[in-house]
Amino acid sequence: MWTYVILLFLTATSTLGQCPVDIPDDERRDCYPWENPTQGDCEARGCLWCAPIDPEYPHCFYNTKVCPSEMPESSRVDCMPEGGLRADCLRKNCLWCETDTPDVPWCFTDPDSSLGGEYCPADIPESERVDCHPESDASVQECLDRGCYWCENTAENVPWCFMPRQAGYRMAGSPVETPQGYQIVLDRINTPSVFGQDIGQITLDVEFQTEQRLRLKFYDASTSRFEVPITISGTGTAPVVKDYDVTFSNDPVFNFQIKRISTDTVIFDSSIGGLQFADQYIQIAGRLDSDKVYGFGEHEKSYFKHDMNWKRWAMWTRDQATTDSNLYGSHPFYLNVEQSSNAHGVLFLNANAQEVTLQPAPALTYRTIGGILDMYFFLGPTPEEVIQQYTMSVGTPVMPPYWALGFQLCRWGYTDLDHLKAAVGRMRLYDIPHDVQYGDIDYMDGYKDFTIDPVNFAGLPEYVQQLKSEGTRFVIILDPAISNTPSPGEYPPLDRGNAENVWVRDYTGSNPQEGQVWPGMVYFPDYTRSATEQWWTNECVLFKDELDYEGLWIDMNEPANFVDGSDEDPPCRDNRFNNPPYIPIVGDNLLWKKTLCMDTIQDLGMSYNTHSLYGWSMAKQTLPAVRSALGRRSIVFSRSTFPGAGQWGQHWLGDNWSQWYNLKASLIGVLDFNLFGMPYTGADICGFLGTPTEDLCRRWQQIGAFYPFSRNHNHESYPDQDPGMWPTVANDTRNTLLIRYRLLPYLYTLFHKAHTTGGTVVRSLMFEEKNRLSVVTIPPFSHPLIALIYTSEEGYIIPVQQPANSTLFSRSNPFGFVVSLDDNGNASGDLFWDDGEAIDTQGTGTYFLGSYTASGSTLTGTVSHDGYSEASNLVIDDVEIHGAGTVTSIVINGVTHSDWNQHPESQEWRETFILPGEPILASSGNGVESTSH
Ligand code: NOJ
Repeated sequence: MWTYVILLFLTATSTLGQCPVDIPDDERRDCYPWENPTQGDCEARGCLWCAPIDPEYPHCFYNTKVCPSEMPESSRVDCMPEGGLRADCLRKNCLWCETDTPDVPWCFTDPDSSLGGEYCPADIPESERVDCHPESDASVQECLDRGCYWCENTAENVPWCFMPRQAGYRMAGSPVETPQGYQIVLDRINTPSVFGQDIGQITLDVEFQTEQRLRLKFYDASTSRFEVPITISGTGTAPVVKDYDVTFSNDPVFNFQIKRISTDTVIFDSSIGGLQFADQYIQIAGRLDSDKVYGFGEHEKSYFKHDMNWKRWAMWTRDQATTDSNLYGSHPFYLNVEQSSNAHGVLFLNANAQEVTLQPAPALTYRTIGGILDMYFFLGPTPEEVIQQYTMSVGTPVMPPYWALGFQLCRWGYTDLDHLKAAVGRMRLYDIPHDVQYGDIDYMDGYKDFTIDPVNFAGLPEYVQQLKSEGTRFVIILDPAISNTPSPGEYPPLDRGNAENVWVRDYTGSNPQEGQVWPGMVYFPDYTRSATEQWWTNECVLFKDELDYEGLWIDMNEPANFVDGSDEDPPCRDNRFNNPPYIPIVGDNLLWKKTLCMDTIQDLGMSYNTHSLYGWSMAKQTLPAVRSALGRRSIVFSRSTFPGAGQWGQHWLGDNWSQWYNLKASLIGVLDFNLFGMPYTGADICGFLGTPTEDLCRRWQQIGAFYPFSRNHNHESYPDQDPGMWPTVANDTRNTLLIRYRLLPYLYTLFHKAHTTGGTVVRSLMFEEKNRLSVVTIPPFSHPLIALIYTSEEGYIIPVQQPANSTLFSRSNPFGFVVSLDDNGNASGDLFWDDGEAIDTQGTGTYFLGSYTASGSTLTGTVSHDGYSEASNLVIDDVEIHGAGTVTSIVINGVTHSDWNQHPESQEWRETFILPGEPILASSGNGVESTSH
């Protein structure tokens, strides 16, 4: 025992020999406020290092005394006007000298400190700060207590409290090679603790999954945590060649860099610091190669490329009319276009409440409050290839039926069937294409799913048949919540649901959780339970016998609740799930605002983890349900979505406003959802909330005619706004929709491509090859208002078809091609065609696929797949060629034709021929030939 003490003393003595002897222990100013600094850490900060005699005092300290004798009292600048003790003053990195002179501050700033006082290091640029106090109202005290830096003199939005670079984890040993990459064990070092519950050791699996896909999975190997049930796996062994490389370092703490090999570009660099892994607070930050960041949703915004000036976006599903706060879906995915114009995408596969801060470095800081940190990198290299790789990983978009590409009319607030008939009557009066009519909750009896209002909507089933014969299908809304007040026998869907116990349960796991939605008191089906799928399918099938619907619109599935949490008092128990230590910047700053408590339970897990998967799981169970009911393809329109939801359903952009701003923002929403793998999307045309002016509605109908999902819809409190309400709107709507209907074979072919190989249907011009861009104005706009194109590039061949007022009729009309030659006189394109409603025609081979190329003066059609016999009845009767010069003769399949006409609108740059009707099934090598000079 004695020996031990003496040894210690000797060590201290020998170190003291190198230390400044004129700074006694109690005059040391701590230069390293985090635990256990090393000598290297200390010297890196330019400070002195030596062991104190009393271990209470710092090892690492500034080369100045707490109370420098040379400093005159008159030049002191108060460092603690709020008052405090010596320890508080020292924590703020200020000087402390007591004095009897009145009004002279005892705590004052150090004029010689290059750090500016208050632990404000000069070596971290503002643009790279990783926020250490993401909740509001940071104070110096709280910040320093977390072990973070505090600098006040900064521009707007820059965090004052931020993480030291020394924060995080260190690799325990070297990365261990695995068949797919590496495994690394990370030990937490003496680092700031932001919200406590820090996990001391985490594991990182680095998986080289494919040549272009890399996964970094950080998790706690000792305790299982919630993981999103989406499996994205590689082949099990690392690819021989890959587009990326990953490097790791322990300097000053664990960090990694992901590099694109071909350009030597670092696309994600975590050495910016900030890695945290606590039970309810996970954070990672990374420097990016460029500020061209797109994605993260769902939010309403008027720009596609993100603002990197400290913008922060929460992702947490929420029933909320459109704003820039978190909306119905959660999509933690971004696309980054690098300075070299290559692109990559990153998915954070996590469903908890989460957020991202975009900062000017350029960099981002990502935070989530549960689950694991599971990052997938998609290396592209084109933006379109990134989206293909992403959607092939989470699920490519489901193939919509052909009729779903037609125009659709809806409103909430048809008071009765006559009201609905009057709106349809106006569509007929103006001969406006009308493929789908909706029934919102008005058609239900007391707003109960699977019922029909026997008074106001008596005769609806018969009317639906009439609509069908006219080429208009009927789609119904279904809300998840099921009324629980009817007595046994009064409402069979409830009885059958009770019998199968399909409901979300309360915190005990035993009792169904009540909430309030349209019909009043309700239960919420647990769509992660297999019994629910059988019950839900059965209800959908039974109801189909009552009402011949063609598609399902699943609303309110965030899930929405009209009360916060529940009707109980208190609504939710006070625990770490309902009131976690940190809440990302979700609207209302409450996770259970207008939804269930976070400790309610589904088979997949507690709502704290599964909340944002509710709409996703409902869509997953509704697709098989509607297919069972119909026996053919259908649509499942889901308001709430999550990565992968596109493989089962479609999405509309929610409750927008009848304002010009919302029209503009809708285009961004369409582009965003094309990044998220849900290309079949669009906004409520003319706006849902508010009364649109005639001009707004006219313009919205014109632009909305080019949404992949084109539907006019509004709120019950506002007047009818279907296009027939104004003759001018009606005429412009019809004329624009006829252009849409002409383009439908092309749109359908694009959906086929997105379905089979992933990727977008609508994309921004940024996706197109730079030098070949030409902005196309979509008629009737006279200026390039929108960067929204189906295609604008020269070099394409677009299949078209003569339009009609329903796809029921347009589908049998003659086809045509729009050929847009490039500078070398070449163009190419495809046509996918099938019966428009059979399930999985790609899988069964019952489709036609033609490829078309134009070269020299010859347009050649090649049948790539001939599995749809009806295709033999289709003919081509017009060809529009852009850039060919004047056409003088036409040779078809070797025969010179004289029976063609030049279209009256032909001009030198755009020739249009009307042909006698050539079969579309021309065999390989034959085709339409045009000769020009
Ligand atoms: C909310 C939906 O977002 C809206 O489109 C619908 O009309 C109402 N619920 C009523 O069902």
